[in-house]
This record gives sequence, structure tokens and C-alpha cells, in this order.
Amino acid sequence: MRDEKNSTKKVGLVGTGLVGSSFAYALMIRGLANELVLVDANTQKAEGEMMDLNHGLSFATPMKIRTGTYQDLTDAHVVVVAAGAAQKPGESRLDLLARNAAIFRTIVPKIVQHNPHGIILIATNPVDILTYISLNESGLPPSKVIGSGTILDTSRFRFMLGQHYGVDTRSVHGYIVGEHGDSEIPLWSLANIGGVRLQEFASLGNKTYDQAEMDRLFAAVRDAAYEIIRRKGATYYAIGLGLVSIVEAILGDHRTVLSVSTLMTGQYGVKDICLSLPCVVGENGIEEVLTLTLSPEEKYGFRASAEKLRATLQSLPRAG
Ligand SMILES: NC(=O)c1ccc[n+]([C@@H]2O[C@H](COP(=O)([O-])OP(=O)(O)OC[C@H]3O[C@@H](n4cnc5c(N)ncnc54)[C@H](O)[C@@H]3O)[C@@H](O)[C@H]2O)c1
Repeated sequence: MRDEKNSTKKVGLVGTGLVGSSFAYALMIRGLANELVLVDANTQKAEGEMMDLNHGLSFATPMKIRTGTYQDLTDAHVVVVAAGAAQKPGESRLDLLARNAAIFRTIVPKIVQHNPHGIILIATNPVDILTYISLNESGLPPSKVIGSGTILDTSRFRFMLGQHYGVDTRSVHGYIVGEHGDSEIPLWSLANIGGVRLQEFASLGNKTYDQAEMDRLFAAVRDAAYEIIRRKGATYYAIGLGLVSIVEAILGDHRTVLSVSTLMTGQYGVKDICLSLPCVVGENGIEEVLTLTLSPEEKYGFRASAEKLRATLQSLPRAG
């Protein structure tokens, strides 16, 4: 484990919109870094966020928060990327993806040029596709390019199960794997509360376990972003905290198990595409991808999710 007292912890952030600034705010409150550099194509936006955050420092742990260019990302342990174009009226998801892919093909080489040894953490959607593109554009080892993947979906899953069973979210263990999106998969076969499988937990509490009810709960997890966007236009607090939990694992070399998007190298027959499985995250980024014992349906769902992402990637116009 890293000596936490004596090391400088520098974090970069590219994209200071709703997600990026929520991450910055949560990082500052948690006091995990000594320095945060904000980069945005809209320099005024980055400056405004920098001022607003700095004005709260008397209530938080001392740190340096400043705006900068890609050059200022030198030596950052992690650079979080939450930059992206918003959907224009009449624009298809694929058009938006093509625009965000083009943005990433310019951002990522600039990050690596100035910070060749750091870790890149991607939040922009579609996060799995952009993680794969970033990996290829960066030339970094797969361990150093991480997508936030299903970290948020897993958190939503744990929260909703906790609500359903009347227990603390933190005592619920379970994962959403695969795409961060419509084809994601809940791992029912491994979900548990304090080590007790859901079926058994239900009977201990004199409840009946109802798979149809669980399926409705999962649909609410999967569709949560649509529901939040319909009400308030965007989602950002929970992903901000999720990004902080990944950064915390890296900066502290905590080797935390988190469901994040990473390059598959044959897991359940899936290769050469990025999607989420529980991974051990530490100072080198992805230290290990866990291989879980999945049910046949879960394996099938995982492969189908990978194929969906591959088809999307293949439908993208080539760079150039
Ligand atoms: N991974 C997740 O779980 C998750 C959750 C919520 C949102 N998101 C995604 O995060 C992304 C950002 O969402 P948001 O609500 O913060 O959007 P936003 O529009 O509020 O912010 C985007 C920011 O990116 C900046 N930007 C655009 N192009 C840039 C470039 N070339 N270089 C530098 N900065 C650039 C913009 O100026 C803006 O400040 C979206 O793709 C969204 O879908 C992901």
C-alpha cells in the first residue's frame, strides 16, 4: 500500500460540465488529492468551476484547484475524462457517438503526450466504446485505461435491493456487469446480503422471494438514467461519487473491487472489447479482472452485451 502521508496526489479533469464538476466537488469534500487541474474546451466554464470550488476550501481539506491546459496534466496520477458533446435536436445516438469518438481521438493523445505514465478514467458515454477507443488512441497498457462502466449501475442495484429488503446499501453485495446501458446484466446468482443469498434472506425475514419482483427492480436500475433525465435533465451526483471511489482506490492503492469497464481478454469467450466485470483497482489501475462463476444465462447475457457493443463499434466511421 502507498504511503498516504508523504505522496503528492494530483488529479486531472477534462470536461467540467455537470458530471465533471460533481466529481470535482466530491473529490474536494473527501480530501483525497493535493491538486486538481481543470481542463475544458470552454475555458470560462472551467474557470467558473475553479472559482466556485476554491471558495469552499475554507470548509474542506486544503488542496490546490486550478484551471490549465493539457500541459498542466503532467504527473497527474489519474486524469478523469467527462468531456463530451450533448445530443443536438434530431441527432441520432450513433451521430452523437461519432462526434464524441472524434473528440476522444483528439483529447486522449494530448493527455498521453503530457502525461504518459498516468491512468485515464473515462466517464463520457457511451463509456464502454469510448474506453476502447481511448485505449487504442493512447497506446497505454489496458490496466491504465479504465471506464467507469457499471460502477453506477451496481450502486443503483445495491441501493434498490437495500430498500427492498430494509438493509443498509453497504451490506448488499452484487454486481451489474456488461455494457453500461440497455444490455447490462444483473448477477442474481451471486447477489447476497451480508453473505446470505437473496432467496435465503427473504425466507429469514418471512418474505417470499419473487423473481418477477426482482426483474422489475432490475428494470428500474437499468432505466434509472432515463427516469432521472426525464425529471431533471441529467444525472451527475451519483456518478461523481462513483468516479471518486475509483480515484480513491488508485490514489491509495486500496485494491478495491469495483465494477468498471476494461479490455476483455477472453473472459466468458469475450475478447477485444471493453465492458464491465468486477476488477481489483489499485495504484496501477486495473490490477486484476475477477472471473466469477456465472450461471449459463448470465454468461449468455454477458456475451450478448459484448456483441452489441462490438456491432456499435463496427458501425462507427473510421478515424481520419
Ligand atoms: N458513465 C456514467 O455512468 C455517466 C453518468 C452520467 C453521465 N455520463 C456522461 O458524461 C458525459 C458528460 O455529461 P455532462 O452532463 O457533464 O455534460 P455537460 O454538457 O454538462 O459537460 C460536458 C463538458 O465537456 C466539455 N467539452 C466538450 N467538448 C470538449 C473537448 N473537446 N475538450 C474539452 N472539453 C470539452 C464541455 O465544454 C462541457 O463543459 C456525457 O457523455 C454523459 O452521458 C456518464
